[in-house]
Amino acid sequence: ASIATIPTEVPGPNRTQDRSAPAEAAPRDGFLNTPDTDPSLAANRAWADGIRARMQSSTLGDDTVAANTLSTAEQVDERIATAVAAGEAWRALGAAGRAEILHRAGDILEARRADLLEVMGSEAGKVVEQGDPEVSEAIDFAHYYAESAKKLQGVDGATMQPVGLTVVTPPWNFPVAIPAGSTLSALATGSPVIIKPARQARRSGAVMIEALWEAGVPRDVLQYVQLDGRELGTQLVSDPAVGRVILTGGFETAELFRGFRQDLPLLAETSGKNALIVTPSADLDLAAKDAVYSAFGHAGQKCSAASLVVLVGSVAKSERFRRQLLDAVSAYEVGDPSVGSTRIGPLIGPAEGKLLGALTELHPGQSWMLEPKKLDTDGQLWRPGIREGVKPGSEFHLVEYFGPVLGVMTAETLDEAIDIVNAIEYGLTSGLHSLDEAEIQLWLSRIEAGNVYVNRGTTGAIVQRQPFGGWKKAAVGAGSKAGGPNYLVGLSEWSDAPVST
Ligand code: SER
Repeated sequence: ASIATIPTEVPGPNRTQDRSAPAEAAPRDGFLNTPDTDPSLAANRAWADGIRARMQSSTLGDDTVAANTLSTAEQVDERIATAVAAGEAWRALGAAGRAEILHRAGDILEARRADLLEVMGSEAGKVVEQGDPEVSEAIDFAHYYAESAKKLQGVDGATMQPVGLTVVTPPWNFPVAIPAGSTLSALATGSPVIIKPARQARRSGAVMIEALWEAGVPRDVLQYVQLDGRELGTQLVSDPAVGRVILTGGFETAELFRGFRQDLPLLAETSGKNALIVTPSADLDLAAKDAVYSAFGHAGQKCSAASLVVLVGSVAKSERFRRQLLDAVSAYEVGDPSVGSTRIGPLIGPAEGKLLGALTELHPGQSWMLEPKKLDTDGQLWRPGIREGVKPGSEFHLVEYFGPVLGVMTAETLDEAIDIVNAIEYGLTSGLHSLDEAEIQLWLSRIEAGNVYVNRGTTGAIVQRQPFGGWKKAAVGAGSKAGGPNYLVGLSEWSDAPVST
């Protein structure tokens, strides 16, 4: 008997999975998600080894950071004035002209995938396994927004106009995809951009921006800055010439920004305290695996991370689930991202404050299913922990920690579990593991979260297929999802004036 095989020759462009071969440009007719690197190919494992070998001595991005670190208020004013002036020609290029450059940016980001992984590992502790889908997401943003902007021209008789100078302040935890998404979306609509990547990820942001410059986005239209001192940051964000501020960061930062200027045109994705509910009908093995990946990927430093699992009914007493959870965690080696077996790298800084408390202190009624363990002297490397006995209304139930610690809660019914999740102020991502259609429908109708995931983990949104955006306190001034069909609408003004092409 012969075994049926899947044909290896597929029609159309070969966007090869072999990263040691040069990638072909993505097709321009419509949008296709970029494939992540396939680690089952020996060539790709060798490619990843090469990246890891370069991490410790990496200097990528250094020159761009050094050349663009501003230290005076006059320098900030000058950057703002140059960007505003350069924005005119960028807008006049029209959506199709800009799309051509953005598509090229996507291709160059692909060509620089290894560089981006090297710099993220070296600077932000991101392991290749976590960084690779992030680069794919950045590439997807380029192609997707390029095409989206073309479609937005002339909807319902009105024309889309750029909001003007956009200031982008991304976080350090997704140092490529988030700055790329914010920047590319604003550029696609015709706005000039000044981006100030987080200090802890300034080189990663620089390498990403270099790719966009190389693609043909003029340096005056897209300006990279680092700023000496908080005052300069306040000045940049609150300047009246700024038409939009795109912030991804903590809720407190959004509040701080809003305090700068009463009418600040702020679009912010903020914090999350996300939960995965597991019902007795679930595939418990898969649920345990997804819970662990969602909780501990990138050491839990994702706004989308699952920080709680809520076990319904008999799952709370399931020895099988407990064993699977512990087994799944044990597969997560913690260490240096330049070592091939590492799956969890260091925290961005030593654990302190509320995170340190969450890693070290139990509250009444709680116990460790797995106690977190500090593995280095300064407290950046932690073996992840799981605490049981988290009670509704307690601090662990409601507070975001942004680190490798998962809390287990229990509920008698699915409705009760949903009440527990909805009591949280943020509504960013939420997960359900259940194989019961009625349960899934109940959960979908009641759960208060922007991103809802059934029978999958809570992290790793995918452009177009699972666009990303929060609800409740997780979204400030944001109404549509990044990587989704309406995101550019929220970044534009609409008017009856003819669009400039
Ligand atoms: N987009 C990321 C995720 O979905 C979070 O920013 O995990």
